[in-house]
Amino acid sequence: MWGGRFAEGPAAVMREINASIPFDKRLWRQDIAGSKAHVAMLGAQGIIAQADAETISRGLDGVSTDYAANGVTDDLALEDIHMATESKLAAAIGPVAGRLHTARSRNDQVATDFRLWVRDAIDAVDAGLAALQQALVARADEHADSVMPGFTHLQAAQPVTLGHHLMAYYEMIRRDRSRFSDARARMNECPLGAAALAGTGFSIDRTATAQALGFDRPTANSLDSVSDRDFAIDYLTSAAQTALHLSRLAEEIVLWASQPFGFVSLPDQWSTGSSIMPQKRNPDAAELVRGHSGRIIGCLTSLMITMKGLPLAYSKDMQDDKPPVFEAHDLLALSIAAMTGMVETLTFRTARMRAAAEAGFATATDLADRLVRVAGVPFREAHHITGAVVKAAEAKGVALSDLTLDELQAIDPRIDSGVQAALSVDASVAARTSLGGTAPVRVREAIAAARTALGEA
Ligand code: ARG
Repeated sequence: MWGGRFAEGPAAVMREINASIPFDKRLWRQDIAGSKAHVAMLGAQGIIAQADAETISRGLDGVSTDYAANGVTDDLALEDIHMATESKLAAAIGPVAGRLHTARSRNDQVATDFRLWVRDAIDAVDAGLAALQQALVARADEHADSVMPGFTHLQAAQPVTLGHHLMAYYEMIRRDRSRFSDARARMNECPLGAAALAGTGFSIDRTATAQALGFDRPTANSLDSVSDRDFAIDYLTSAAQTALHLSRLAEEIVLWASQPFGFVSLPDQWSTGSSIMPQKRNPDAAELVRGHSGRIIGCLTSLMITMKGLPLAYSKDMQDDKPPVFEAHDLLALSIAAMTGMVETLTFRTARMRAAAEAGFATATDLADRLVRVAGVPFREAHHITGAVVKAAEAKGVALSDLTLDELQAIDPRIDSGVQAALSVDASVAARTSLGGTAPVRVREAIAAARTALGEA
């Protein structure tokens, strides 16, 4: 395609290092769509004859049918998907195919194809994340009243409801979806027509091609159009943040599935065994979601480093933009699907969770709060008294609510008879009715709001 000024072909290794077809063949649908929009515009503007435009457009449909049926073959001599498609087109319709590349360069072509691909990827991720949110909300609803220890420093801190804990992940995913949606809105401008870097002397209609491809408008600056990969970095940033959230949930599943915790059990479908230890039941899918997050974050780093030293406009380094985006997308899609499957099918061992909430003196704050409310004790002093109560319970080896009123009043006479009821884990969570708090009544409101936002209610 560019051999006019060359006497010899490339060395074999040159051919190999130069070719992107092994990975960019994944852009074939976008490449055909971009070319069809371009050729329709060339015809409409009278830049090429209308009849030629129609022949080329039909020829592109034929190439598309062939790709769909047989896949794209990696012919390294053809370098990339753009040249592969054009050569297939020429084989089908003859020399008129050579008119397609008028007023266009592979630089604006690839920028357009890749934006189209990333836009579809965002839509696919968004649908997956919506399904994960639905799963979280369904399980939260089931467990709006189930009590578990809430942790800080991984030490039992205060009782919370499992529904509340799951809804925390709903919130993270809500922000992730909003980040992807911001990225989509920002990237939806069409670089086609920037040509190699400087624009073109042909009387092209960039608004028409932008519109035909579902973009909001053409990009403003031709140099920026062919050298910008912010949209891919935005995608990877959003993917990395999402993967990070999935990894935190995965870590909790791994921890909770361990014998000392015993908060969850995974069904057979989501567990693996050990080849040597017959008793083992491993949460491999959760571990891999946690592991994949590292690779996805690595993809973001990879593309940022590729881009950071490049002068305007296009440099071939930018061909390396696609593998990290494809890799991150595949890993993320799989991670979201696996996490959704696990969330849907996990068994929550609520009796274990409740026992753990009761064991850790987690209602100590409730005793201090009650001294403040009922006896008017300043919080700092109430905190100190409660510390003595915890010490006494620990020495006796019992829960706070198992200390007798006499024992409690020996520590401080202002402790009243209502205190034992207030120290139950159910009373503790029910009391936390502040906005965004863990009380079942608040959790149910949060679930209802989530269902409305998800279009379920
Ligand atoms: N395969 C190339 C890429 O992905 C297409 C653009 C090639 N442009 C060029 N001037 N050689 O970046």
